[in-house]
Amino acid sequence: MHKIHLTATQPEADYDIIIGAHLCDRVAVFIADQYNPRLCAVVTDSNVAPLHLSKLETALENVGIQALACVVSAGEEHKNIQTVSNIWDYVLQHRWERRLPIIALGGGVVGDMAGFAAATVLRGVPLIQMPTSLLAAVDASVGGKTGIDHTMGKNLLGAFHHASLVAADVNLISTIPRCELQSGLAECIKHAVIADEGVFHWLEENLPQILALHPSALTELIHQNVRIKAHIVSQDPYEKSIRAHLNLGHTFGHALEKVVGYDKLSHGYAVALGMLAATRLAMELGRCDPQLLPRLEQLIQQAGLPTTMKKHDPQAILSAMYSDKKVAGARLRLILPVKTGQVAIVTDVPDAAILEAIATLMTAGAPSA
Ligand SMILES: NC(=O)c1ccc[n+]([C@@H]2O[C@H](COP(=O)([O-])OP(=O)(O)OC[C@H]3O[C@@H](n4cnc5c(N)ncnc54)[C@H](O)[C@@H]3O)[C@@H](O)[C@H]2O)c1
Ligand SMILES: [Zn+2]
Repeated sequence: MHKIHLTATQPEADYDIIIGAHLCDRVAVFIADQYNPRLCAVVTDSNVAPLHLSKLETALENVGIQALACVVSAGEEHKNIQTVSNIWDYVLQHRWERRLPIIALGGGVVGDMAGFAAATVLRGVPLIQMPTSLLAAVDASVGGKTGIDHTMGKNLLGAFHHASLVAADVNLISTIPRCELQSGLAECIKHAVIADEGVFHWLEENLPQILALHPSALTELIHQNVRIKAHIVSQDPYEKSIRAHLNLGHTFGHALEKVVGYDKLSHGYAVALGMLAATRLAMELGRCDPQLLPRLEQLIQQAGLPTTMKKHDPQAILSAMYSDKKVAGARLRLILPVKTGQVAIVTDVPDAAILEAIATLMTAGAPSA
């Protein structure tokens, strides 16, 4: 088992992230030791509940904690105020107290909603994150962002509320559907570009074992990625400076998701395409090591992620980039790779160059997203 201690400048952001196999018992003991609660809520979704809920319930019962399961419908379309309201109702009906924890057992959708519920019930109760998707383990469960979607856009409502423990159990994660594993891998590739050559090279070497859901490869992958994200988050917990590096591929990616349709292009696939567009743009501007692009293309392809997409109007994608909430003022603020281990925040890129980079994703002939 690996353990990472995350500390930030804020005292509440001071907790362990544990990664390994069979962690339900450890989580139960941690909760009993820390809070000695009579009960706790387990928020999970309709896909994860039949696979993993009973293991966690048994572990909690073994240490004398009653587990109240709150099973929400799976899917991003349910990450809204109505579902959170159901979670609020559920816990408040059980006369919730400040020290009674909420456990998020699921992917990023469950983590975001259970986290937001934990941030708001009684102005904040303890939150334990048990990510069951790769994306949730390497990204969503680390860093304290919680939230829900609004009809005006994704993740527009939320709060910062750090977990008191994050436990990424590779046994739970190993039932993840293939396309969801690939989506998580897009964020891992992103982290590898941001981090350093060693991480990038390790990913190139170990991708087959990861795709085969080998427990030791998954453990190592999550450990490396959490370390990278935790390092960035601990320096910039409220996204004022270098946390923006984590948006590599995301300004392009969010626009692609919006224009193609959230139901047609998954976030991870869009991020993979977005990283390629960002890298080609950086190359065109003479800002990027030419060796990065072919390696990145190959890694994305090997992960089963798309390198091209069906034709869409590049201008519509550019407009969507301008309307993304991460745009500061009227100028596009892009994260562009310089080489493995280095990215730059760039604000002066001409629209024509961006349009060209978008167009490179739509080359006819290759398999597309
Ligand atoms: N808070 C943050 O910092 C942050 C960061 C990145 C993403 N997010 C959010 O995370 C969400 C995406 O997360 P996600 O990709 O995990 O989506 P998700 O939670 O919808 O999970 C993807 C699918 O996999 C299923 N699933 C999850 N774990 C499983 C398992 N072990 N076995 C079988 N099926 C399983 C889920 O039921 C769902 O159908 C988005 O809403 C995004 O906004 C938040
Ligand atoms: Zn992302």
